[in-house]
Amino acid sequence: MNIQIINGPNLNLLGVREKSIYGDTGFETYLKELQARYPDINITYYQSNVEGELINKLHEVGFSYDGIVMNAGAYTHTSVAIADAIAGINTPVVEVHISNVYKREEFRHQSMLARNCKGVIAGFGLDSYRLAVESLLAK
Ligand code: DQA
Repeated sequence: MNIQIINGPNLNLLGVREKSIYGDTGFETYLKELQARYPDINITYYQSNVEGELINKLHEVGFSYDGIVMNAGAYTHTSVAIADAIAGINTPVVEVHISNVYKREEFRHQSMLARNCKGVIAGFGLDSYRLAVESLLAK
């Protein structure tokens, strides 16, 4: 089973950026734990701050992988192009957020992507990614 994690803008700064919201663990550290927890699953990781590169990655894996876990960061709230990319591929996408976006500013309450996703997981810190993987395993 192949699962692709895709992180969008500013998520390369996890562990450094706004620690009171996003915690103090870098994603690479967390990824190792996640991969160790699921030794039989191929979990690959991609991060970009560039909208078009996120779309290219969705196209690249979206016809062959079994699942995509996507935290599109702020593009979640703005990107029709990423929403269209998710609609255009076959692989199910789970939208993920580290923070509970519904507890935060109103502009974070809207997701352009959610309607094209299998589901949304938000507010469980980095554990949101594990919950998303679990949801893909449950199919
Ligand atoms: C985020 C929430 C977004 O609103 C924000 O722009 C992010 C991170 C989260 O994981 O909680 O960059 O997606």
